Amino acid sequence: MKIKTVEQYVDLYRKSVQDPEGFWGEIASEFQWKKKWDRILEYDWKKPEFKWFGGGELNITENCLDRHLDEKGDQAAIIWEPNNPGEEERILSYRELYREVSRFANALKRQGVQKGDRVCIYLPMIPELAISVLACARIGAIHSVVFAGFSSKSLATRIDDATCKVVLTADGGYRGKKTIGLKAIVDQALEISETGSVEKVIVYNRTNQDVVMLEGRDIWWKDAIAGVEDQCQAETMEAEDPLFILYTSGSTGKPKGIIHTTGGYMIYTTYSFLNVFQYDPGDIYWCTADIGWITGHSYIVYGPLLAGATTIMFEGVPTYPDAGRFWQIVEKYKVNQFYTAPTAIRALMKFPIELVEAYDLSSLKVIGTVGEPINEEAWVWYKKNIGNGVVPIVDTWWQTETGGILITTIPEVLHDHPTFAGKPLPGIQPMLFDESAKEIDGFPASGRLAIKFPWPSMARGIWGNLERYKETYFSFGDRYFTGDGALRNERDYYRITGRVDDVIIVSGHNLGTAPIEDVINTHPLVVESAIVGYPHEVKGNALYAFVILRGDVDNPEALYKEINGKIAQDIGPISKCDKIQFVPGLPKTRSGKIMRRILRKIASGETSDFGDISTLLNPEIVEEIIRTRL
Ligand code: WTA
Repeated sequence: MKIKTVEQYVDLYRKSVQDPEGFWGEIASEFQWKKKWDRILEYDWKKPEFKWFGGGELNITENCLDRHLDEKGDQAAIIWEPNNPGEEERILSYRELYREVSRFANALKRQGVQKGDRVCIYLPMIPELAISVLACARIGAIHSVVFAGFSSKSLATRIDDATCKVVLTADGGYRGKKTIGLKAIVDQALEISETGSVEKVIVYNRTNQDVVMLEGRDIWWKDAIAGVEDQCQAETMEAEDPLFILYTSGSTGKPKGIIHTTGGYMIYTTYSFLNVFQYDPGDIYWCTADIGWITGHSYIVYGPLLAGATTIMFEGVPTYPDAGRFWQIVEKYKVNQFYTAPTAIRALMKFPIELVEAYDLSSLKVIGTVGEPINEEAWVWYKKNIGNGVVPIVDTWWQTETGGILITTIPEVLHDHPTFAGKPLPGIQPMLFDESAKEIDGFPASGRLAIKFPWPSMARGIWGNLERYKETYFSFGDRYFTGDGALRNERDYYRITGRVDDVIIVSGHNLGTAPIEDVINTHPLVVESAIVGYPHEVKGNALYAFVILRGDVDNPEALYKEINGKIAQDIGPISKCDKIQFVPGLPKTRSGKIMRRILRKIASGETSDFGDISTLLNPEIVEEIIRTRL
């Protein structure tokens, strides 16, 4: 499955375009199917509908676990490194993980969970999170992992949207110096939940906090698994049965519950994992993401385990107990592949280099980034200081919706180049298109990025909203529209230039502006607000809110804190605004639309070149906003 030379890449790429079914069929044959597929691919862009390996039956956990037991039963599957370096790590071999997953799968069944039921997972980064995900997949329940930094309201929205039957959580979690209460947030969420779909809450004791256990609904993890068998027959799933739902921000409205299905996702995450990281048997691989995001789903849990790899799960943060923590862990486990976010690199670059030099990083063979563009300065720092000037960097471009990495370089095969993610993996057909939806050929080219042929791990829908799925991704003809802009150079390398919609990527997290504006607008003093992104040294982008108030405000500093407090409470701390400017009005077109283009320029520090603003309803407001800019 692994590409080793550029000639092989060229050949396989050509094959994948000329005969996609042959190409993917061959790869799919390397997995364990309960029943072979009838058709490799059926699709219809207009509906839209995509079916991979139709008629095929499998269980993904048999491929993650059972399949490896003979040869790798004693090999570490998951190495868990705790938040506090003084606490002992936990290592689960493939056999132990298989037993834990089977045991918990049986425990879920005992609580009444059945195939097709939705299970919400709201857990910190402990092995039980990975175990929960796989236990759901074992019995055909659809997991919906919600990042444990989201507020009770955000959690409630997600629980209700998917009408989850069970919530899996912990009393709390550790992150750096903080201990966070999670069970209390679940309690609040269930109080405001409108569907009342949740019947059971299973609670893992991680931090020994006092929690309230509701009789008949809440059950401790240890009681849930007491007396339960550690063998569990894997449910037979159709290739197109949903595997999970994962929420991501849209430019408007509530979060989108992206649906991924079983067979295609399995094949693509394995294939991309092996190629992008050039994983060799025995290597120690570490992705620093949280399993609450797609990166953790595809490249901490599924991809690595499907490939029989050893994957590290880290509970903590990069700066605790100090900013050398990542490098200390790399040395401790002799990590071979390291995968992180540009925002983490930019944050760590600011600390004394001694914190890097103190550790032996010579085990590293590949270092990667994901989630947002990596600026040249951070790329060069990463290469020089972490990669010793020679280790290949993979700047991997993909999305929650794509399921796996689509554009990247390949170590020793396609060379890395700062600020360019690279080329499509075989099987992926990117295109750029212009304002009139016409494809732009050749190079250099710049436009909107789309993918013009289906691939196995593409999102199959938005939970409960097929219409939105169609509108968001398939409005520009027979192609999947990514929402990103990109450039293509003479080497056919792509540089991702950023979102072309109202999604802003802050520290690698996708944030839709509309839901945050909605929260701000509910403040009694606020008339209207508009949020834009502006460049930020560490976060990549930060949020800048322009807010119109009712009357004057005596204490803007206090109001700033109050508004951010409300955002943290209603959505989560990651959505807080770095700057909030109180303004007498917002620039609007005659039809009443806010001119975000102008606000973006002001927020970025520009004071001229706003184009023709004479057609605005209120052109004088632009000067006024610039004058009081923060
Ligand atoms: C952005 C994360 C530049 C992009 C896996 C995309 C990137 C969004 C890169 C998806 C990259 C991701 N270079 N931009 N290497 N990787 N992005 O759904 O805007 O959390 O559309 O998936 O992140 O974010 P998501």
